[in-house]
Amino acid sequence: MARILSGIQPSGTLTIGNYIGALKNYVKLQDEHECLFFIVDLHAITVPQDRQKLRQNIREITALYLACGLDPKKVSIFLQSEVPAHSELNWVLTCNTGMGELERMTQFKDKSANASGKGHHIGAGLFTYPVLMASDILLYDAEMVPVGDDQKQHLELSRDLAERFNSRFGDTFTVPKPYIPPVGARVMSLQDPTKKMSKSDDNSKNYILMTDEPGVIRKKIKSAVTDMDGSVTYDRANKPGISNLLEIYSALTGDPIDALEAKYEGAGYGAFKADVAEVVVAELEPIQKKMKELLSSPLLDEVLDEGAAAANRLANRKIKKVHHKVGLGRKR
Ligand code: AMP
Ligand code: TRP
Repeated sequence: MARILSGIQPSGTLTIGNYIGALKNYVKLQDEHECLFFIVDLHAITVPQDRQKLRQNIREITALYLACGLDPKKVSIFLQSEVPAHSELNWVLTCNTGMGELERMTQFKDKSANASGKGHHIGAGLFTYPVLMASDILLYDAEMVPVGDDQKQHLELSRDLAERFNSRFGDTFTVPKPYIPPVGARVMSLQDPTKKMSKSDDNSKNYILMTDEPGVIRKKIKSAVTDMDGSVTYDRANKPGISNLLEIYSALTGDPIDALEAKYEGAGYGAFKADVAEVVVAELEPIQKKMKELLSSPLLDEVLDEGAAAANRLANRKIKKVHHKVGLGRKR
């Protein structure tokens, strides 16, 4: 039994990319491991957020965690800002991180280019974001971190920071490993399948939200960009659109991609796309129904209260140890 931890930013309604790359795996892991899943609201404010919407998103993700099948009797679900030790460890690790290490992060390069392209200011939090993520992970000695492919580089940094701290100050942190799904680790945009599907995309046709109505889902998949070749075969480089739809189908049903290629041999894209849409609708409809019920229930606050209490117990013990190792405070 390993300790598992992961989180999602409440920066918008989640997409099926978040679901396939991360959330679906959380649910799989909860039976065999000790799991902590949280909502990373501190990370969300690295770019400007509307406060009402941020609160709404936090509730929505909590409801979604439960609706997807996370069981609060088995896992702790909590809000990052309700565990102050994340911010405390963040400072200590920031002081042990090189500027050059952060300058190399591709997510920072992409997000800062995007912000400056729109004339927005770039907050320093966007730059130090990966250190906060490392703090989240190291604070709990998480051994495995289920994430999509885009977080691989941040996980590498977390490993480096853990190793560095351990060698400077003595054995303190477990060195975490990423847990990246073999299929669906990078669900691509429907209109531009060379780009990652993202909830902060300006064009809503690029993504499928977990809350999209069946009619909307069918329409978006029908209009997904494909190619002129006409065969339903997997080839990421030359057929990114069809390959993406095959991955979505395979990740949701568990059918291997080669079995799907065989099933759709000779079938047109129209028939294939219609089936992909039905697979997505069948997966999301029951989740959406549960989510609606949960949104108006007091259960959400109970789950977050209990989760925060459990997380604070673990985190406070660890941060005390860290402060002591570094020489902060007065205790000898
Ligand atoms: P974020 O929305 O950036 O907080 O991401 C939450 C989780 O979803 C992370 O583990 C990401 O790696 C994962 N994720 C986000 N977008 C995708 C995508 N398009 N495909 C696969 N996983 C994704
Ligand atoms: N940076 C992650 C993302 O954007 C979210 C995140 C923050 C996270 N802290 C984490 C994921 C700790 C796993 C573990 O997707």
